[in-house]
Amino acid sequence: MTDTATTAPPTGASDGPAAFPLAFRTTPSTAAKADAEREAILADPGFGKHFTDHMVEIIWTIADGWHDAAVVPYGPISLDPAASVLHYAQEIFEGLKAYRHADGSVWTFRPDMNALRLQRSAVRLALPQLPEEYFLESLRQLLAVDASWVPSAPETSLYLRPFMIASESFLGVRAAHKVDYRLIASPAGAYFHGGVTPVSIWLSTEYARAGRGGTGAAKTGGNYASSLLAQEDAYKQGCQQVLFLDSSEGKYLEELGGMNIFLVRHDGTLVTPSINGSILEGITRDSIIQLAKDRGHAVEERPIAIDEWRDGWASGEIVEAFACGTAAVVTPIAALKSKDFTIGDASTPAGEFTISIRQELTDIQYGRKPDHHDWMVRLA
Ligand code: PLP
Ligand code: COI
Repeated sequence: MTDTATTAPPTGASDGPAAFPLAFRTTPSTAAKADAEREAILADPGFGKHFTDHMVEIIWTIADGWHDAAVVPYGPISLDPAASVLHYAQEIFEGLKAYRHADGSVWTFRPDMNALRLQRSAVRLALPQLPEEYFLESLRQLLAVDASWVPSAPETSLYLRPFMIASESFLGVRAAHKVDYRLIASPAGAYFHGGVTPVSIWLSTEYARAGRGGTGAAKTGGNYASSLLAQEDAYKQGCQQVLFLDSSEGKYLEELGGMNIFLVRHDGTLVTPSINGSILEGITRDSIIQLAKDRGHAVEERPIAIDEWRDGWASGEIVEAFACGTAAVVTPIAALKSKDFTIGDASTPAGEFTISIRQELTDIQYGRKPDHHDWMVRLA
């Protein structure tokens, strides 16, 4: 574990004239929730329904780089109707969580990976790269005022949502010269109703999520907008998530609308789609690969044909499937439904590996087990 709560941010990172460290201005909210109201929310937070009292903003302009860093009361954002994000969707975001440990301290998981992925997404969306230290400092600054919003009940957390939008007002199509970075936070219980109950997923053969040379590897709103119709199909089929195939052949597994996917073979080998430029490089995915290798499991990152899953499930070669992501953590997949076939059924129980890897990952995140990879970073 890396305790950075008390360390001064390093100097030297810069992107434009603003010198680091940025001086954060803090304006305390005058409408902060009373303790009793906040505690009532934390007792049953759901996912993404409630927000903390403050948010962070940092402004970037082509002339001045990153500047005007502030912690301000949570509230609506004022945007000109011509702000380019509203027309051309120049937007990226991240998702990570803050976890309360038994001693009351607050930690987050591999935030450097989120900072670097935000930078990669920025490059793809022609947005400015936020220096990693600004990203980490924004987390620390928000937690400095809103740490009481980190719930302490088992398996709850504070979901952190950093995002960046093109805020310049003009209707020409080009990269914006004014951009806002913001960070909001939302107390979170389980992403799916029913907690870690296995889910059913719908295989979309009609819609693709991403194509070669597209934005599939970036965490950008447009990818999610284009997944919504397929997700609606999933709900109509009684499924909780949608699985996409590659767009060129419609043959290989890519990922779910908001999660990566793993299959487990009967000999304990893990199989997951390779990072191919069109799926998100999940941080949970990467962590599971590491933890599985630590346990001595073989891990294959390679193209997986949908027929391999269907036939392997039928023959007993593939014994478990699960989805993973920050919001979903590790969620067992009970069934896969498509217009041509169904494998498994909603009553298929969670597999042994799925349960144990979820336990191991959350034990690290909640500070219940040693963090051998130095993944945890203290925020408050
Ligand atoms: N794939 C997509 C499309 C996602 O939205 C997410 C969630 O962030 C993931 C995969 C998993 O990524 P991570 O484990 O970094 O949260
Ligand atoms: C996350 O897991 O952080 C995501 O962004 C995915 C979304 C389904 C909430």
